[in-house]
Amino acid sequence: MLRSLAVCLSALLFTSAMAEPLKRPAGAEAAAIEARIDALLKKMTIEEKVGQLNLRSRPHNFPVDQVRAGKITGFFNVVEPSEINMLRRAARESRLGIPLIFGLDAVGGYRTSFVLPIGQAATWNPALIEQAAYWTSYEARAVGVNWTFAPMADLSRDPRWGRVSEGAGEDPHLAQIVTEARTNGYQRGGLAATAKHYVGYGAPDGGRDYNSTYIPPSLLHDLYLPPFKGAMAAKTETFMAAFNALNGMPATAHKQLLRDVLKGQWGFDGFVVSDFNSIRELKEHGIAATDAEAARKAMLAGVDVDMEGQAYLMYLPDEVKAGRVPMALIDDAVRRVLRVKFRIGLFSRPDVDEANVASFMVTPPARAAAREVARESIILLKNEQNLLPIRADVKRIAVIGSQATYMNDFNWTGPGNLAPTRTDNLLEAIRKRAGGGVEVVYAEGMSDENGLAFKDRQGAIDAAKSADLVIAILGEGSNGVGEATSRAKLDLPGIQEDLLADLAATGKPVVLIATGGRPLALGRAEKNAQAILQLWHPGTEGRAAMAEILTGSVNPSGKAPMTYPRSVGQVPIYYNQLRTGRPSNVKEPYSSIYIDEDYTPLYPFGWGLSYSDFKVYDLRVASEDVALDGTLVVKVKIRNKSGRAGKETVQIYTRQLVASRSRPMRELKAFEKVELAGGEVRELTFRIKAQDLGFHDDDGKYGVEAGPFQVWAGTSAAADLMTPFRLVDAGKRK
Ligand code: BGC
Repeated sequence: MLRSLAVCLSALLFTSAMAEPLKRPAGAEAAAIEARIDALLKKMTIEEKVGQLNLRSRPHNFPVDQVRAGKITGFFNVVEPSEINMLRRAARESRLGIPLIFGLDAVGGYRTSFVLPIGQAATWNPALIEQAAYWTSYEARAVGVNWTFAPMADLSRDPRWGRVSEGAGEDPHLAQIVTEARTNGYQRGGLAATAKHYVGYGAPDGGRDYNSTYIPPSLLHDLYLPPFKGAMAAKTETFMAAFNALNGMPATAHKQLLRDVLKGQWGFDGFVVSDFNSIRELKEHGIAATDAEAARKAMLAGVDVDMEGQAYLMYLPDEVKAGRVPMALIDDAVRRVLRVKFRIGLFSRPDVDEANVASFMVTPPARAAAREVARESIILLKNEQNLLPIRADVKRIAVIGSQATYMNDFNWTGPGNLAPTRTDNLLEAIRKRAGGGVEVVYAEGMSDENGLAFKDRQGAIDAAKSADLVIAILGEGSNGVGEATSRAKLDLPGIQEDLLADLAATGKPVVLIATGGRPLALGRAEKNAQAILQLWHPGTEGRAAMAEILTGSVNPSGKAPMTYPRSVGQVPIYYNQLRTGRPSNVKEPYSSIYIDEDYTPLYPFGWGLSYSDFKVYDLRVASEDVALDGTLVVKVKIRNKSGRAGKETVQIYTRQLVASRSRPMRELKAFEKVELAGGEVRELTFRIKAQDLGFHDDDGKYGVEAGPFQVWAGTSAAADLMTPFRLVDAGKRK
């Protein structure tokens, strides 16, 4: 049944009307583009050149004269087709008629809202993740947007940082695959993608947004750069430089990473945009005394486009005249911008067909994709005595928490004047699916979506007492997600821990639906709930998906893309940590433990339960000796011991036991999400190149070392099925 539903859905998902994928021109076509750029560059004044490097946000009054003067390369956050057409006409009236580019933070969907990116990552399903980006792009493109400031490729080990909601979690392998899938989806749907924020933005000290980051080169290359390589593999058209200083150098002025690594070693030939005003902010960082100096430093470092600051427009012509910035660098930046504009077809694209825009929005296949992604994003963290799915003898359910009726989704810039799509709220979705004869009562319990105060506390307790099952929807509202939402506490905000304790004290079984955009520290909450489901802000279809999971018509299959701490003091906590000289051991006080908290996570990376019961067994390697230029072949079996079809993600981790540097205790190297009918057994084969088992040194140099390894297979980073193997060759670093 589940399988045939999935087949129907995927048929729907892959039938897309009018997709206009970006194609990367090659050969003669690419050469023709360069020739057209040469011709344009010859005609351009310095003012027109810096105009191509000047990106503006949606202003109150459109500076149409500046557009006609060729002083603006594009706008972002303009989503009204009539305004976009008006601006396009003004650009056509400029001397050279170079088209504008229109950008947008289409992060978690456009009109069809998808589950937050971290929830997408929790599906561990790259094909679905690609779909989410595709439909977002498809819709945004229809209003005239050409470019999205997504995906965020920032890896993060710190859930205090609110922007973990926009990323793919803590692991470089998963994040690389997710970033590649999202970039592919956006660009297949017709928008140029942006790999942001290059680089290190996800590791702010104290988890505080915009704060400085300190990342040693080995970690930068092993952890933080791989997701950006995923974007490169998908041929992202643009990168965005980050706000933060990395090891003392602001990313917006980081020549080594922008010019040497990105544009040099990686051969990136699109353009790099600054973050919002981050060029002028170089003064705040204390590396420029004036805006002119800030503009110079950013240009010399390799930032091609100035987002919103207008420092390039105002100061670069004089910097060039004074000989402080070579014209060749300006020409290179302009070439990159024009290259992208040509490549994505802006010179030949017709104006937006204003009458036709609505037909692109919230189409059945986009909704089907949103539903499927939401289903697979929900994580069953705990399910004591199989409390879920809701049993047939439950006749009265108490739904508690104001988020049950609240419909806000995280949506960065909104869909403009188009009316929001009304779908069921969670209470309605549960009522619809609870079945005849089941009564669903509701109490808000708290004043607002973040539980800042109680609201009729006794009413919530009474509702719980009257029911057979309590469903508590608690966590962070949509305004607790995204940029500038760092937290110093990670438990359920406000009074919600106390509210949950009240509900537990009734003695009724409690299901906690933990909402938000990050793994919360559920150490206390976990004691007050027999079952816990993670609901990332779920988008247009996500509330229905949650109700399907509660009632059992859908089997949960989400997997944690980040480790769940017990309490905030454990942060940063992540699975791929190094060994220590004093490995954690509760029986040994002089080992790496806490005196007031367990050292283990509440739920490890990769964790997520199912209504089925899977067993991973019979782990083998094809050969215990693997040459440095060979392939590790891992075979393992999985059995669905239950009678119920379900999906499980088999994860493969390795560890190098002895090397020239201390190596992580485990590293994810491969995974596969499979769907198994009840009782079904499947053998899986994973091929991992020995060359992917290496690491970087402190000069950023990559090497693979021979020596003893272990490989684990299982359903989370805590997998205990292990077998040894060796990489063999002369023990020299390559
Ligand atoms: C964010 C970027 C975003 C930009 C434009 C900045 O504040 O850091 O991620 O793309 O604004 O909205």
